[in-house]
Amino acid sequence: MTPSQIEHLTIVDHPLVQHKLTLMREKETSTASFRQLLREISLLLAYEVTRNLPMTEKVIETPLCEMRAPAIEGKKLALISILRAGNGLLDGILELIPAARVGFVGLYRDEETLQPVQYYFKVPDALESRLSIVVDPMLATGNSSAAAIDLIKQAGARDIRFLCLLAAPEGVARMHAAHPDVPIVTAALDERLNEKGYIVPGLGDAGDRMFGTK
Ligand code: URA
Repeated sequence: MTPSQIEHLTIVDHPLVQHKLTLMREKETSTASFRQLLREISLLLAYEVTRNLPMTEKVIETPLCEMRAPAIEGKKLALISILRAGNGLLDGILELIPAARVGFVGLYRDEETLQPVQYYFKVPDALESRLSIVVDPMLATGNSSAAAIDLIKQAGARDIRFLCLLAAPEGVARMHAAHPDVPIVTAALDERLNEKGYIVPGLGDAGDRMFGTK
């Protein structure tokens, strides 16, 4: 993949990612297709967000000889889903990284103030010695994501990456201001937010579209 990079923001411009995202944006796409596409795209995004993981070598034996072979260094990484829409990304990533530890942050957005309200928090131990990948499909105002990362940092995390499907410029700015140390990986940077805090052109409410709710 050759992602475009803008200061801690990686836009994954791989044709498969972009094509699948277009299908997901279309309003006629069914819940089943949306979910399947999200699963597929999350594998591709996971590939990008785990680029540059620190590597080590271990000695193994192939059927022919002994060799020093590359392996990922350090403790199992932590995937932290911002409920509920984060779970759509989480499922796909877990297929690629089945040994990852998993945490959940429950935040809902107050529809009037657009501010996050916490209702659940459970994360893996020893976050200070793991890479934490925080997942939420939509980086809109950035309020929930920034608040979730505050909580994860309070729980000890030091090395954090944020993975989303779509980002708004407002959300990226908010995240960069609150957490300049956290790189963001996304499939697209859209135009703006509307007055209700939805990303435009966007894809609507990601949770509703993946779970078939309204
Ligand atoms: N959350 C969504 O699901 N969609 C948006 O456009 C913004 C926030």
